[in-house]
Amino acid sequence: MESLNLKQWDKASSTYKEDQEHSFNSMLNREFIHAQNFNLKSKKVLDAGCGFGDYTNYFVSLGALVDACDGSEEMIKLCKEKNPNVDVKKVNLLKKLSYKDNYFDFIFCNLVLMDIPDTTMFFKEASRMLKPNGKIFFTITHSAFYKGSWVKDKNGKKIARTVENYLKHITIENHFWGKTFNYHRPVSYYANELAKNNFCITKMLEPAPSDKLVKSFKDKDHSFKQNFPIFLCFEATKKED
Ligand SMILES: C[S@@+](CC[C@H](N)C(=O)[O-])C[C@H]1O[C@@H](n2cnc3c(N)ncnc32)[C@H](O)[C@@H]1O
Repeated sequence: MESLNLKQWDKASSTYKEDQEHSFNSMLNREFIHAQNFNLKSKKVLDAGCGFGDYTNYFVSLGALVDACDGSEEMIKLCKEKNPNVDVKKVNLLKKLSYKDNYFDFIFCNLVLMDIPDTTMFFKEASRMLKPNGKIFFTITHSAFYKGSWVKDKNGKKIARTVENYLKHITIENHFWGKTFNYHRPVSYYANELAKNNFCITKMLEPAPSDKLVKSFKDKDHSFKQNFPIFLCFEATKKED
């Protein structure tokens, strides 16, 4: 099943890359990540589920010592093209990884965990690979607002979102860049996975686009995303034993 998922990401890779270079949601995500002002100079960073390597490249530009990994061979190729000096490994995040214990200062995982059918091993491995006091920083599509329909006012403005089956773990088939799957889990699931694996949550963030970004997209109104966060982010620190 997972190899099928990864083949789907192989097929989606070039369309995904193109979309990420121009779409509003990827700009929102990038604006949010850049606003964190990460201080990672000379820090050991893992970009887990690196995709085509946009953030791998960003962490290199910050002076970090970056490792990257992904399960899709096509994504790995794109990531290597963009980051010729980074060791980009093929991995399956459902399984144990080959990185050393207590090695990384920072593990970054952007918009990956809601795309994998089971996150149990990922959180266990992240805790093993991070140094004590090291940080994990991950984003997912926001579980509360991802699946549902918009309620609009008489002018067509999006004013509310219906939510179905929020507490259930369900699989959603997407066709944004080719067929891929989203594994919906409620927000508490992620908080509890962190707690179970010796992490202390230090931030929970719900990114909203700036006015400048909203105004720069003249063709489509994205202002509702200033009220309904489409992404959710956790930062957590590995506790000392
Ligand atoms: C939505 S993309 C995000 C990519 C990148 N982090 C970014 O922000 O552009 C999801 C990524 O997760 C990877 N992925 C999905 N399932 C995986 C698995 N089981 N093991 C490793 N990577 C996986 C896909 O190949 C894809 O690159």
